Amino acid sequence: MKKREAQHRTGPALASLSLACALAATLGLTGCRGDRAEDPPRQFFPDMDDQQKWRPQSQTQFYADGRSMRQPAANTVAFSRSPMTSQVLEGNPAWASALLADRADLLRADDAAFTGKDASGVYLEKIPVAVDRAMLERGQNRFNIYCAACHGMAGDGKGLVGQQWSYPVPSFHDDKYLTRSEDPNVPQWRDGYLFHTARNGVWSPDGTQNKMPGYAHALDVHDAWAVIAYVRALQESQRGTKDDVPANQLAAIDAAAKAAADAKAAAEKPASPAAQPAPADKPADKPADGPESGKGGAQ
Ligand code: HEC
Repeated sequence: MKKREAQHRTGPALASLSLACALAATLGLTGCRGDRAEDPPRQFFPDMDDQQKWRPQSQTQFYADGRSMRQPAANTVAFSRSPMTSQVLEGNPAWASALLADRADLLRADDAAFTGKDASGVYLEKIPVAVDRAMLERGQNRFNIYCAACHGMAGDGKGLVGQQWSYPVPSFHDDKYLTRSEDPNVPQWRDGYLFHTARNGVWSPDGTQNKMPGYAHALDVHDAWAVIAYVRALQESQRGTKDDVPANQLAAIDAAAKAAADAKAAAEKPASPAAQPAPADKPADKPADGPESGKGGAQ
């Protein structure tokens, strides 16, 4: 019992002694703030203090061109953060397929599809990729997400945000977006111009004011063309006539129109006194009046 107590007492004593030693040692090493010393500072991990390093985008004398960041090797395209080894690609085809499709796009030497302009810098008249139903549906989906807030679900410029925007949002049903013009200052009818706008936005002529944000971060090249295809579909939706309908579908449309007309006529028929039950617009009279007048009508 006594021995244990003694042990208990020496424990704290030893601890405070070692604390005092540590404190004395540290005090010996540190100076007082503001004190000047001729000696070089002590470095406990000199390699961490003095290692070579460059900040991104900074200057260095190490490389002849003075840049700390290296240029990619000529004629190469940096691609993907993961190494694209055959093991990675074959081991995880689902993951790799999207990357491979992107890479195929990047490597494709089809500038027009990427910029919306031809070799001489003129906006393309027509969408340079095949348009099918799936593409239109994709375009509708992306348009409703990224454009409709301002341009309206129907492309009329009356989206909820568009009505509050600091610049009037144009309607895609405006003539300049529809009618061919040879005036180089009126490129709005060209698909390539719409594509360029979707991805890069609209800037004031001096390039200082962003009047519409660009959506390249959200719409890859395919999606942007799909959106433009859908804008064209929206335009058509407001201007279609029966002449636009393929001949082989006309009969079906006529039949549907006739069926609709017949249904309407049938729905209106009860208006004739013979079949008409009591008008339901007088609810108070209904319980008593309904069956009575039904009988009356049948007489
Ligand atoms: C935040 C609001 C907003 C959104 C979202 C928006 N726009 Fe616009 N857009 C504008 C405004 C404002 C203008 C008119 C800019 C100007 O010329 O002053 C405009 C103009 C345009 C024009 C006409 C450019 C011209 O020169 O006549 C096109 C084409 C266009 N937008 C396409 C799109 C497409 C495609 C999307 C979706 C990817 C989109 N916009 C999303 C606000 C928006």
